[in-house]
Amino acid sequence: GEGEYPDKGEKDIRETMENSGKNCIVFYGSQTGTAEDYAARLAKEGKSRFGLETMVADLEEYNFNTLDTLSDDKVVMFVLATYGEGEPTDNAVAFYDFISTDPTFSLGNEVPLGNLKYVMFGLGNNTYEHYNVMVRKVNKALRALGAKLIGEAGEGDDGAGTMEEDFLAWKEPMWKALVTSLGLQEREAVYEANFGIIENDDLTRDDPQVYLGEPNKSCLDGITKGPFNLHNPYVAPISKSYELFSVKGRNCLHMEIDITGSSFTYQTGDHLAIWPTNAGEEVDRFLDIFDLTSKRHNVVTVKSLESTAKVPFPTPTTFDAIVRYHMEICSPISRQFIATLASFAPDDASKAEMTRLGNDKDYFHSKVNAHYLSIARLLETVSKGKKWTNVPFSALIEGITKLQPRYYSISSSSKEHRYTVAITAVVESQELPGRGEPFRGVATNYLLALKEKQNGDPNPTPFGMSYEIMGPRNRYDGIHVPVHIRHSNFKLPSDTTKPIIMIGPGTGVAPFRAFVRERKAMHAAGVPDVGKAILFFGCRKSTEDFLYKDEWEEAKQDLGDKFELVTAFSRENSKKVYVQHRLKERAKQINELLEQKAYFYVCGDAAHMAREVNTVLVQIIAGERGIPEAKAEEIVKKMRAANQYQEDVWS
Ligand code: 2AM
Repeated sequence: GEGEYPDKGEKDIRETMENSGKNCIVFYGSQTGTAEDYAARLAKEGKSRFGLETMVADLEEYNFNTLDTLSDDKVVMFVLATYGEGEPTDNAVAFYDFISTDPTFSLGNEVPLGNLKYVMFGLGNNTYEHYNVMVRKVNKALRALGAKLIGEAGEGDDGAGTMEEDFLAWKEPMWKALVTSLGLQEREAVYEANFGIIENDDLTRDDPQVYLGEPNKSCLDGITKGPFNLHNPYVAPISKSYELFSVKGRNCLHMEIDITGSSFTYQTGDHLAIWPTNAGEEVDRFLDIFDLTSKRHNVVTVKSLESTAKVPFPTPTTFDAIVRYHMEICSPISRQFIATLASFAPDDASKAEMTRLGNDKDYFHSKVNAHYLSIARLLETVSKGKKWTNVPFSALIEGITKLQPRYYSISSSSKEHRYTVAITAVVESQELPGRGEPFRGVATNYLLALKEKQNGDPNPTPFGMSYEIMGPRNRYDGIHVPVHIRHSNFKLPSDTTKPIIMIGPGTGVAPFRAFVRERKAMHAAGVPDVGKAILFFGCRKSTEDFLYKDEWEEAKQDLGDKFELVTAFSRENSKKVYVQHRLKERAKQINELLEQKAYFYVCGDAAHMAREVNTVLVQIIAGERGIPEAKAEEIVKKMRAANQYQEDVWS
């Protein structure tokens, strides 16, 4: 349950491998699904290229007491994401705790893991403080126990946007080393489907057991059944939605979601996960290029042909529903997947082009990634519109990421509204040269469509995208959206008298709206000596995208000098003014507040803003206290370690 320490998994690693005849187990520590995808890819490649008997496993389901009994003709692979402030992902907490705290193993040997061969890849983000600490720490712990690392411990960087390339670059030498270590033979890889697609002629999409977008059985049965969590979203009514501003190609939404029926609790500073749906136009395009349009509503059952490959959506279902509700059809494409598709190309020219894209990293980047080409757009271009009829549907399930929920910083205060969660989302669309039409964010445009629908506005949206809202079998009265809550460590100080400094440009202001409202509510309720709150907000123009302008004025009226708003408008003058410039101008005040043990918060863009704010804070401390910057840096690090400096940032 919540807040409790997770129990160790029940499966025994040795027993599982022996019983299933495996010699390679690939564990993932995954939060958003990428590590899980990579693990599946390693397992698949190990099998098809090297004849390994592989399996994929969730760290959470295992205990590792018999890790010392695995013989040296086996290999254990770890694909581990580092989450937030250098923490293990939720499913890796128990493993991490076990391996890093003097573990006891079944044999009790002095060098317990002397026989163990392992492989390691980490997923991290270099714009965060604790880059890839999970792989580094687990690697260190395993080595200390005598285990032998095969190849290098790979580190992928999401911050630089090179995760996929880092993975591919790490993989080849690792396989080479593994071939030597285990004495394997490489063979010509032949595609083997992980999934069997069985068309059900006796079922139609009107049959009640056919999934048409319902995420699970209880949703299919039309009953709301908890517990709700990241595997089981709550389909929540939207109580209010409106635009905070709307200018050419840029809209910002405020949305309030009613969680009364869910038994969810949230705390100010937590995140709301939205389960999006793909835009109708994108679904059509995708089905069309694979020549599935005429079959789109046929009912299919998908079965795993591989004991370790899980079908990533409920079935029986339809091609349309799989693509619309369960596949990231607009996200960046993996270069390895391109190479797989090459063998199913409709003609030689397309095959040659796909092979080149698959092999040549720079060519791939300039042709595909730089234009945010979706898979369907790429294939249309490559084959000049010819349909890709030979691609097995299983290859699409394997090669395309499962559609992921998107996380939003909650902009309401739980003290003020216990059962209503607000989010603040800017609707993304980006003009890109050579693309013909702008690239549009998946979840934000979906939210915009929900808002339009709720307010009786026309659907399709102003951008001409249409959504099948809540599926064709919509049983809900009013507009709903599937959600779950993710708890975070981004929290107001428990001591309400402490001052707070908040840096939140753009939609980074979301959690600070909640913080300010919470302080306001406390003050109104007669809590004495509520500490000072100072908010640095930045946007383009005071007349354009100034979020919650009226609310700040109200807060000022209620809280008096306990609240201060400092603005940075970046496009009102010839020179850019950003929040960090304003912060610097107030060096003296900031330092004084810090000396009163103020809490310092940053929310928004990780790659630039959050970094620059950190740098400026170091400069402020150094300048005001007359100490060297290195010393000031130490102080800022300590503030972070003590949770006095908190970030809620994204890239
Ligand atoms: P700009 O788009 O005019 O450059 C919210 O998006 C605000 O953050 C905008 O005013 C934007 O300015 C600004 N912004 C862009 N890059 C930034 C950075 N590196 N640091 C701080 N603010 C930034």
